[in-house]
Amino acid sequence: MSLQDRLNELKATVLTQINTTDHLDHLNEIRVNTLGKKGPITEVLRGMKDISAEERPVIGAFANEIRDLLKDALELKKAELENLALNAQLAAEKIDVSLPGTDFEPGHAHVIQQIIEQLENQFLGMGYQIAEGPEVEEDKYNFEMMNLPKDHPARDMQDTFYITPEILMRTQTSPVQARTMEKHDFTQGALKMISPGRVYRRDTDDATHSHQFHQVEGLVIDKHITMADLKGTLLKVAQELFGEKHQIRLRPSYFPFTEPSVEVDVSWNDVDENTKPEDIEWIEVLGAGMVHPNVLKMAGVDPEVYGGFAFGLGPDRFAMLKYGVDDIRNFYLNDVRFLSQFK
Ligand code: DAH
Repeated sequence: MSLQDRLNELKATVLTQINTTDHLDHLNEIRVNTLGKKGPITEVLRGMKDISAEERPVIGAFANEIRDLLKDALELKKAELENLALNAQLAAEKIDVSLPGTDFEPGHAHVIQQIIEQLENQFLGMGYQIAEGPEVEEDKYNFEMMNLPKDHPARDMQDTFYITPEILMRTQTSPVQARTMEKHDFTQGALKMISPGRVYRRDTDDATHSHQFHQVEGLVIDKHITMADLKGTLLKVAQELFGEKHQIRLRPSYFPFTEPSVEVDVSWNDVDENTKPEDIEWIEVLGAGMVHPNVLKMAGVDPEVYGGFAFGLGPDRFAMLKYGVDDIRNFYLNDVRFLSQFK
């Protein structure tokens, strides 16, 4: 077979191969096999030395022509296959921007925590500090320094989880009063603090009792503090939490750590100058009073110089009143259907 014929045959075979492949890898194989150093075209060109001088340029030109033609065909096919591959990839990775997105629900603070934070912000704004104390507490701080010695009958009001005879789960946040007063340097000025936290009592859980609940203790100690300061402070707090139109009322009560002691009610309906007293519905929200001299003395504060007021309120009760929740256990069951209502 003449060289021309061989080249023509080669051209036909390779073009068929190129046209029928649909893989880039395969196409690359064809290219290497055809145009590579060991390929048929190089071989033909190597055979040139055996042909006559007149024929040589003609065959040479023809071989180059075929090589260029095959090169072009390979390039063209390569571009075509790459394009196909790209389109396939684009189709596979297509995003439908009109589909509705995935809805991520951001978390939020627990409703009790929200009430506590609201109170904290309010008291911080009035210059109070926020103090903390341990939940596993000494009998000394929880009771004795709160003017409740071992045999005091009022201990019965707070049925206690004892860990040892001297260590207990605190039944109230009042011990933080003693802990903070002990450390306070009164030459630097008044002590104004609140202390929010968990407290524990051996109560049987029902709609209004939980063996674990929250309190926010408040304490102000300075020279010349009066009951009017207490009333003014609590009125502000009640109005901030429940609304401007609410009033408070103090009723005489008893707590071992305050003298005199009061229970504080908030008006449940709006009150203005035209409201008749008998139309006001009062709800008890907290205990308070003027700090007992014994409490001051035991914490190393001179009751002849200093005095002040204290109060203890229940954020659980505030939340129940504010949102009309009729069972305290809802706050502790962690049912998101309930909790997510308070965003
Ligand atoms: N610790 C009291 C209780 O748990 C609440 C209380 C009442 C705290 C009067 C006070 C207060 O600081 O002055 O029942």
